[in-house]
Amino acid sequence: MSHSQFVSKCTVDALQAAAQTLLEGNLVAFPTETVYGLGADACNADAVARIYSVKGRPTDHPLIVHVGSMDALGDWASDVPEYAISLARDFWPGPMTLIVKRSALAGDFVTGGQDTVGVRVPDHAVALGLLLSFAQIGGKGIAAPSANRFGSVSPTTAQAVEDELSEYLADPDQILDGGPCQVGVESTIIDCTGDVPRILRPGAVTVAMIEGSTGLAVVGNVENAAIRVSGSLDSHYAPVARVVLDQYPVTGQGFIAMEDVATPDGVVRLAAPKTHDEFARVLYAALRTADEQNLQTVVVAQPQGAGIAIAIRDRLKRASWDDLDSKQTIRDGKQ
Ligand code: TXA
Ligand code: MG
Repeated sequence: MSHSQFVSKCTVDALQAAAQTLLEGNLVAFPTETVYGLGADACNADAVARIYSVKGRPTDHPLIVHVGSMDALGDWASDVPEYAISLARDFWPGPMTLIVKRSALAGDFVTGGQDTVGVRVPDHAVALGLLLSFAQIGGKGIAAPSANRFGSVSPTTAQAVEDELSEYLADPDQILDGGPCQVGVESTIIDCTGDVPRILRPGAVTVAMIEGSTGLAVVGNVENAAIRVSGSLDSHYAPVARVVLDQYPVTGQGFIAMEDVATPDGVVRLAAPKTHDEFARVLYAALRTADEQNLQTVVVAQPQGAGIAIAIRDRLKRASWDDLDSKQTIRDGKQ
């Protein structure tokens, strides 16, 4: 049963009320262009602690601080290299998180005790309106992870947030409906603490875009990088259904593939995107549909090549059951 308030019309008044709700220490789930976030006042330790309990997430996993404009980067960062400023200018608001040395404002309860902080300006009218309203009443930033239980698929609709989290939310908490997310996979995370940018999580801001903006070669092979973010656990972004990659689907199995791939008889087609951008946009909803239909297995024919296809393959690898033992551990952990 839901105890949170579901706000389907995000008027200016509604966003001001939501900002006030945040300032009072409650949680507000909100849309971004990537996925929905579960927000709290990033300066309020008790409010941020509730994010961890609602998500069932270990407290040493850091959160991203969302701000309304790149001017606020200086509030949260103590040292911002030239190339990070270039990235912020070129891609904010947008699907990109910058990891920078933290300022005193970024408490251990947000950074998981690390001396860095993740900052992002999301590109969504509701998110920006909420951030603006929050700043107007003195708020410095909104800490928000994806609005799913730990280890599960990120929500790309407000309904998915409600399905996933409502039993853990309480009455003053809110879920803001801003329609389906347009990007559909989480932001590119770029470590900006070294001499050159390093991608920790691939997303819609690609290697080519980062190199074009900064004039620097990006470090590391993204697809093999040993990363320290929670999404780097072996099992993440995973539905209950077993995700199998690049096999021939058989009767009764779910199937996600580009539009030009035919659906074999008896197979449940969950998505048939025409482009890689559309693939990213519909992927998580398709995985949720598999669970709603109680499918045991979803076969995904992975998109090939560079660009956002790299981010899609990254998430699919973590959602798939290549490593059954680690998945079982996480499932047991989150009941
Ligand atoms: O698109 C997105 O980034 C969404 C929307 C809501 O903004 N947010 C999101 O948050 O995906 P979350 O918490 O589900 O994933 C953020 C990842 C985590 O794996 C976290 O460990 C990593 O970012 N992260 C945050 N701060 C970090 C830091 N200071 N150093 C390294 N990794 C960090
Ligand atoms: Mg997440």
